[in-house]
Amino acid sequence: PESQDLAGRDVVVSAGGTREPIDPVRFIGNRSSGRQGVALAQAAAARGAHVTLVAANLAQDVTEQVRTGERPCAVVQVESTAQLRDAVRAAGADADVVVMAAAVADFRPAATPDAKIKKVPGQGPAPIELVENPDILAELARERLRPDQVVVGFAAETGDASGSVLEHGRAKARRKGADLIAVNAVGSGRGFGTDSNEVTVLDGAGDVVGQASGSKRAVADALWDAVVKLLP
Ligand code: C5P
Repeated sequence: PESQDLAGRDVVVSAGGTREPIDPVRFIGNRSSGRQGVALAQAAAARGAHVTLVAANLAQDVTEQVRTGERPCAVVQVESTAQLRDAVRAAGADADVVVMAAAVADFRPAATPDAKIKKVPGQGPAPIELVENPDILAELARERLRPDQVVVGFAAETGDASGSVLEHGRAKARRKGADLIAVNAVGSGRGFGTDSNEVTVLDGAGDVVGQASGSKRAVADALWDAVVKLLP
């Protein structure tokens, strides 16, 4: 039996990936499967929390499983970043913890026409003008919908010439202002779309406070362990 260390707690988890409409039939999206966010929601429910999963474009069977499982979660389905933001802020207004596990599109098309964009023979592609999306995690960390709310984010990073995965994660932890950031290495078969994950948990100052690897459920439980330590 799981420990019930989240009993009576209200938590919100966002999962999946947002889609930004280009026109009524097309979108800009990303490859997030939503598996880590779903594992976080299920782990929290198993530990006694009341969970709202804000699900951005998850597969229907996954959504049903979360909604009707042994420890059911409330599910709010969204598509775009604007919808995700509204849903997270509404559900998060009274939450003890908000975890932003969704992959949020950094940019969206500046305008969304009501009619499908046509291909005109002989003409090249029309450019799509993009504008920046709000950083939902940074907003939550800055505004604090509730004074004692714990705000958690993810940082999917690849190492490059300007720094290692952990160095990039550290910089992000300081920039975003969240209480915890789960840093995971992505690329070359890791992270996205797989059933296992490897994360280092950093606090807001960028110091390591936890480490986990294995199934996404094991990683989820390690992250909740770190969250529980911060709860008043
Ligand atoms: O900056 P980056 O996208 O790598 O940050 C990832 C973290 O920030 C994730 O927790 C993601 O859910 C969150 N995020 C957000 N709003 C954005 C972009 C990212 O909440 N516009």
